[in-house]
Amino acid sequence: MSLTDCRIIDLPIIHDPRGNLTFVESNSQIPFAIERVYYLYDVPGGSERGGHAHRGLHQLIIAMSGSFDVVLDDGKDKKRVHLNRSYQGLYICPMIWRELDNFSSHSVCMVLASNRYDEADYYRDYAEFMRARWG
Ligand code: TYD
Repeated sequence: MSLTDCRIIDLPIIHDPRGNLTFVESNSQIPFAIERVYYLYDVPGGSERGGHAHRGLHQLIIAMSGSFDVVLDDGKDKKRVHLNRSYQGLYICPMIWRELDNFSSHSVCMVLASNRYDEADYYRDYAEFMRARWG
C-alpha cells in the first residue's frame, strides 16, 4: 500500500440534457465495498481537515460541489491532489497520512469508506504513524 496506489478514479457519466448522472458501486469502479458514507460541508474558508491516517480503511473522496485539495503523505513522499469534479474520486488506500485544505466556498466533500467509524483505526499522531509505517 503506497502513494502510487492512491489515484484519481474517473467514474461513469451518463450524459443527459436533463442533467448528468454518475454512480459508484462496491468493488466495481472502486476496489472496496462501501460500508459508510460521510460528508464535509459548511467548511469555513482557510479551514483544514484530516490530519490522520487509517490502519485498514479504504476511502474514495469526491468533490460533490466546489473544490478542495488533498495532500497525501506516505511518510517518504507527498503529493497534492486538487479535486473539483463530481465524476472523479480520489482513492486512498490504508496507511496514508492525509490533510484536506484549500476548500472553496460551498464545497461539499463526500467520502465513501470501506468500514464503519472506528476510532481505533486512526493514527492521529504523525510520529506514531511513521513508526508503524517505516519502523
Ligand atoms: P475526523 O475523521 O477526524 O474528521 P476529518 O478527517 O474530516 O477532519 O472526525 C471528526 C470527528 O467526527 C471525530 O470526533 C470523529 C467523528 N466522526 C464520526 O463520529 N463518524 C464518522 O464517520 C467520522 C468520519 C467522524
